[in-house]
Amino acid sequence: MKRKIVTTAALLVIASQSTFAEHKGIKLPHMEFPMAKGEGMYATKGMCNMCHSWGYTINQGKQSKAFWRKKVRKMIDVFHAPIKDEDVEVAVTYLFAHYGNGKEE
Ligand code: HEC
Repeated sequence: MKRKIVTTAALLVIASQSTFAEHKGIKLPHMEFPMAKGEGMYATKGMCNMCHSWGYTINQGKQSKAFWRKKVRKMIDVFHAPIKDEDVEVAVTYLFAHYGNGKEE
């Protein structure tokens, strides 16, 4: 919760300083978060970037394979992400290869 407030506050500061905010109210700045290149990148991009930016995902830092599996399952079970069961491991493998901490659990 605290983190969310800090992020929101930071975005508001950035937005209020940008010229977009001058006449048309607050417009959040567009931010690009490049994905690490590698096997499964395009598949994972298709599965994960339709609802939120990649920044939301990599904000978690380097994590275990079990952590990423749990997150992908959460996206499906809680947010109804249209990810097929057989594609879960594609995303998990990609995430762990590039944003993993080397630990299975
Ligand atoms: C159907 C929409 C949807 C898709 C597709 C989706 N997400 Fe999410 N994701 C969300 C929502 C909504 C939140 C925000 C939850 C919150 O603010 O508490 C979120 C939040 C997150 C978070 C932040 C931590 C957390 O647990 O809330 C991570 C990490 C994440 N998603 C990873 C992924 C990954 C990896 C994929 C692809 C495998 C993915 N998401 C696909 C909807 C989606």
